[in-house]
Amino acid sequence: MNKKTLRDVCLKGKKVIMRVDFNVPIKEGVIKDDTRIKGALPSIKYVLDNGGSLILMSHLGRPDEKGITPDTTLKIVADDLAKKLGKPVVFVPDCAEADAQVAAMKPGDIVMLENTRYHKEEQAKAKQKDGESDEDFKARKAALKEQQKVLAKKLASYGDIYCNDAFGTAHRAHASTAVITKYIDTAVAGFLMEKEIQYLGSAVENPVRPFVAILGGAKVSDKLAVVKNLLNKVDTLIIGGGMAYTFLKALGHSVGNSLCELDQVDYAKEMIAKAKELGVKLLLPVDTVVADKFDPEANTKIVTEVPDGWMGLDIGPETIKLYSDAIKSAKTVVWNGPMGCFEMEKFSKGTFGICEAVAEVKGNGGISIIGGGDSVAAVNKSGLADKMSHISTGGGASLEFLEGKVLPGVAALNDLRKVFIAGNWKMNKTAAETKALCEELKASLAQFDGKCEIAVCPTFTSLATAVEVLKGSNVKVGAQNIHWADNGAFTGEISGAMLKEVGVEYVIIGHSERRQYFGETDETVNKRIKAALKYGLKPIVCIGETLEERESGVTNKVLDKQIKGAFADLTADDMATITIAYEPVWAIGTGKTATPDVAQATHAFIRSVLIDLFGAAGNRVVVQYGGSMKPGNSAELIAKEDIDGGLIGGAALKAADFTELIKNGIGA
Ligand code: 13P
Repeated sequence: MNKKTLRDVCLKGKKVIMRVDFNVPIKEGVIKDDTRIKGALPSIKYVLDNGGSLILMSHLGRPDEKGITPDTTLKIVADDLAKKLGKPVVFVPDCAEADAQVAAMKPGDIVMLENTRYHKEEQAKAKQKDGESDEDFKARKAALKEQQKVLAKKLASYGDIYCNDAFGTAHRAHASTAVITKYIDTAVAGFLMEKEIQYLGSAVENPVRPFVAILGGAKVSDKLAVVKNLLNKVDTLIIGGGMAYTFLKALGHSVGNSLCELDQVDYAKEMIAKAKELGVKLLLPVDTVVADKFDPEANTKIVTEVPDGWMGLDIGPETIKLYSDAIKSAKTVVWNGPMGCFEMEKFSKGTFGICEAVAEVKGNGGISIIGGGDSVAAVNKSGLADKMSHISTGGGASLEFLEGKVLPGVAALNDLRKVFIAGNWKMNKTAAETKALCEELKASLAQFDGKCEIAVCPTFTSLATAVEVLKGSNVKVGAQNIHWADNGAFTGEISGAMLKEVGVEYVIIGHSERRQYFGETDETVNKRIKAALKYGLKPIVCIGETLEERESGVTNKVLDKQIKGAFADLTADDMATITIAYEPVWAIGTGKTATPDVAQATHAFIRSVLIDLFGAAGNRVVVQYGGSMKPGNSAELIAKEDIDGGLIGGAALKAADFTELIKNGIGA
């Protein structure tokens, strides 16, 4: 995950304003389910244990619709939390009036603010009223947005650090979930948020295959975007629940009185065709439990075609078997939505049958993720919850994640790694040409100051010129190689002291062209990295597989060996100034680029090796992609979760190309 978490900031003596999801069910003053409170405890305890103090905020229920009721005050939650932590929690009855209580806080103290939704500007939702003109409505909406900023600024003023641990509301751009980050510099994820994003993110972006998604629930129209997005990711898509009948209708089956959205039949046809085109297995019910009415006591039978006058309310036994076989063979399963009306016993076998199959995945070494209120409820009811890898706390948020949407509450948090784009000029440009190009770049790249890190790496004889022209600009200079010795009889080589003297900041090490033509090995790469660190130069370490290696399926093995060789004996602290450039050799200078998905999968693998070796520090290492990155593909490559920029060859040799590539890459 490319977002900072509580682990990445110093908490000692700091006030942390934390958005949690304490939207728990309360009836007559009693909390009916405290899962969400327990879910936030790791983040809460971490802040307190590390010398910080905490101001907690949350929404509870929908006071905008129902008005303020005893079931929407967070006072009850504050008392429960105090009991759980065994220490006082100061409750503030108005979230916008906490100055005095916050000023009195000492490290280890906790303040809990009243329901943020008692202020309508938290959500700033506006519906046009009867008789209200378009203009008045627009003005009212704009005024509400302004009030939202005022509330967000007030909430931000309580803390030094903002932490969002409320995944369940991360799909909302509210004052306390997203707008607040405009008024506070440090914004990080809590551990619950981190866990949700890691599970859902790696399932969608980098699944261990076979990847099977199961979608159910009443309506196709609720899941249009999910079906479309998942078809591009999964090996098998299973559809059950009410939404299956629209698909069955699209295939010409009879659906009787079952739920069927006629206006979505064409969409279903389109998705069936898309699945075929992509080679994705799309599984639909082969038999159905039908009822003569929507009633727990209805007459039922099992059919392959739904007769007139009957409605399908669950998948049949053959379908349970078909779906279960596909699920059990999967290594990654995502499930959202029940298979039938499982609240009624007669129509619950499908959903619970699927529960049992999904529960086997974890035991077989796979990953199972459950999202969405109804499927989570079914899993809890089945008693199999502890057999699932991850049960998401966010229904709507997890669905939007599966749709491929960016969640505003996540997007607003600080990135862990900055984007870094460097030009490797290789053996091109004389000193005179370097001067001309650097002058152009100095002017055209100034617009990206503060938005990303930029460097150019000319050949040795041009370094002094580049350093001179780019002095004081936002464009840094790097060399293309360094020798490991301090000095001596190494004809044609250059030392760290020499590079330092000339004023460069970066140095490329282990480029595949050096490995291929000049005998570079993992061992010499390791020695050069150590020399660069000794002289305070920042290494850009290149790794990558050849075409032959990729085609014979050993890419990850090759990269693992290169990483372990290059960084042998280095510590987590050493990794702080190191950049890795993943450059598939077959893509360099060939015009062939790894597709964004292929590149992302490899970057995710590199990230996992770095985390294994260096823990959290491995997650902070910037990993660039290199190999035919151009203005036309930089956006889609750098948009990927684990691709943090690029090492550019050909497209770095013209100011216009390099500028356009960066502009598109960072979306400026
Ligand atoms: P191209 O961008 O020309 O493919 O080169 C990539 C590279 O080798 C950068 O180091």
